[in-house]
Amino acid sequence: MRILSVVGARPQFVKLAPIARAMAGRADHLIAHTGQHYDHNMSDAFFADLGIPHPDFNLGVGSGKHGAQTGAMLTGLEEIIEDTRPDWVLVYGDTNSTLAAAVAAVKLHVRVAHLEAGLRSFNRRMPEEHNRVLTDHAADLLLAPTQVAMDHLATEGLAERSVLVGDVMTDVLFKTRDEVAGTPLALAAAVEPGGYYVATIHRPDNTDDPDRLRAILDGLAKVAKPVVLLAHPRLRALADKHGIELAAGSVVVSDPVGYPQLVNAVAHAAGVITDSGGLQKEAFLLRVPCTTLRPETEWVETVDLGWNVLVTDDFPALPGIVERPRPAATDAAPYGTGTAAEAVVETLLSRLPR
Ligand code: UD1
Repeated sequence: MRILSVVGARPQFVKLAPIARAMAGRADHLIAHTGQHYDHNMSDAFFADLGIPHPDFNLGVGSGKHGAQTGAMLTGLEEIIEDTRPDWVLVYGDTNSTLAAAVAAVKLHVRVAHLEAGLRSFNRRMPEEHNRVLTDHAADLLLAPTQVAMDHLATEGLAERSVLVGDVMTDVLFKTRDEVAGTPLALAAAVEPGGYYVATIHRPDNTDDPDRLRAILDGLAKVAKPVVLLAHPRLRALADKHGIELAAGSVVVSDPVGYPQLVNAVAHAAGVITDSGGLQKEAFLLRVPCTTLRPETEWVETVDLGWNVLVTDDFPALPGIVERPRPAATDAAPYGTGTAAEAVVETLLSRLPR
């Protein structure tokens, strides 16, 4: 059986790692990279650090407005799918690369499986929310990470196409956590274990409005311990454009780091402050308190279990929220035990094409 994985952005490389490993020797697994993320530390570093095979195709699409970016991917992916005729196209998460691959494949009558199906923020301002909903409704097989995701799919009439496989990011997180255990803290900033916070900000809703971005940074600047801000290129570009200085008060700016360094940095942090989906969950899995700069989250279990607090816009209150006491310990495992990639491959192999 031939399976074509399509990826393009940083979180998709992380999800691809355990899948590529589980596919080895069991399927003819091809990888197409759209080129949505292209900086070395946003792309190639992940393939090298996580031992992911070199992509078979790279469209080199790069940055652009949603229409131009997604359109260029659609054009390139159509050719790749026509040439390779896979039994499945496997798409990951919620980026423009996900949507482009799903649309290209279904129009060619090639079956599409969506990994991380059924997540919903119910926030229609997020491009990712449209990408998720449209991909789920186009796909033939919906591989859901959680029971909550399964419930969303059922509500939308998609129960028959849905399978609960668990969360593949948990697979890679646990493996990497064990690999980096005992290695020294590898951050460029001069900080001590337990004596700093890790922060990331990249969502358009937080970066594109200069007043909101300034308010977030003002709040972070007043946190009592250093806040190591791993600056996504989107954040740097928009801060430059609006004349906003990222490094002020407690904020120490760093380039994005590779996945093992990130896991190591979060594991030793006093807390995480982020608007990333994946990082909220990684913090929970490492039992590090998280403060999420968004009105809602797709990973509601992290909030329900007390490890994640959402901050919609009361940014002056950030220091008190970030420095809150640790929540009660829990051994809940809503994201599975680290074997989701196996379940994904089994499901794909057992469902032969029509
Ligand atoms: C994308 C995904 C988002 C995911 C995020 C992870 C969409 C709509 N959004 O957002 O779901 O959480 O990736 O990072 O698909 N840039 C670079 N170098 C790079 C990549 C991006 O400089 O390697 C800059 C460019 O200026 C670009 C901007 O970042 O315009 C945004 O990149 P883009 O891929 O459009 O979306 P992200 O914000 O990264």
